[in-house]
Amino acid sequence: ESTLGAAAAQSGRYFGTAIASGRLSDSTYASIANREFNMVTAENEMKIDATEPQRGQFNFSSADRVYNWAVQNGKEVRGHTLAWHSQQPGWMQNLSGNDLRQAMIGHINGVMAHYKGKIVQWDVVNEAFADGSSGARRDSNLQRSGNDWIELAFRTARAADPSAKLCYNDYNVENWTWAKTQAMYSMVRDFKQRGVPIDCVGFQAHFNNGSPYNSNFRTTLQNFAALGVDVAVTELDIQGASPTTYANVINDCLAVERCLGVTVWGVRDSDSWRPEHTPLLFNNDGSKKAAYSAVLNALNGG
Ligand code: G3I
Repeated sequence: ESTLGAAAAQSGRYFGTAIASGRLSDSTYASIANREFNMVTAENEMKIDATEPQRGQFNFSSADRVYNWAVQNGKEVRGHTLAWHSQQPGWMQNLSGNDLRQAMIGHINGVMAHYKGKIVQWDVVNEAFADGSSGARRDSNLQRSGNDWIELAFRTARAADPSAKLCYNDYNVENWTWAKTQAMYSMVRDFKQRGVPIDCVGFQAHFNNGSPYNSNFRTTLQNFAALGVDVAVTELDIQGASPTTYANVINDCLAVERCLGVTVWGVRDSDSWRPEHTPLLFNNDGSKKAAYSAVLNALNGG
């Protein structure tokens, strides 16, 4: 196959990208995105600050621009993200305790109702664990509202849209030996044992010189899948875009039956949140980088 999406589909997987609504009017961007990818994540438009700028007043204008573009072009959509310490609107940043928990429930219900039956995977909770060696939860207003805020979010999400796969999503959890990975693993194991509704784990896979790719990523994916959840690579970018490293990540996903697909976090290097890392598959002029060929070749079984 000659595009990333079609090549991934040969094994029943998808190949996605993050889409920024403001870039869709750039014809180079839109044509590459439409040609190569069959899964879309809104880079910012479905986040809490964008969708509920005032408490109880939802605004889906930017989110729908991304959603409609995706669906009109035959793509599926991953929802990102419902409960997160970051990109909270001002009104939510100032909440705590039970009031915050009620606001989180209201937010999940409001957004999931708007997209009911239309989103294949939702990142229900994003980035709840701390970096470093503690294995602790990240401190946040949500965490201070009670350690069970994550399962409350998942139970709320299941009731709001039973058709969506519900994912926990995080970064620096690709290396099996890291404390953060182990902490996330313990949580997912506990959720599965107690029947908390979780269907998938998203590995963001923002690889850089400080947290590089490690070949034990495949072990990580396998171990999570063995708990009875699907896994996905949700925000892939690699500082310097080594073709070998990109191919390794693809082959890790292909080696794990429950790996649903791979999403890269942007189209061209200039679209990246870290453009100075030149971490993506396309040059600023829209031409394909060596990493693109390595990914396509891996997806084609090469
Ligand atoms: O839209 C405003 C614009 O009006 C304003 O002039 C400008 C000035 O700074 O800011 C613009 O908003 C920025 C927004 O991206 C859109 O470009 C925000 O400041 C900026 O903080 C925001 O960054 C996003 C970041 O999440 C925020 O947390 C990145 O685009 C986005 O790629 C990044 O994505 C996250 C995932 O959601 C979760 N995992 C990590 C990943 C990378 O940080």
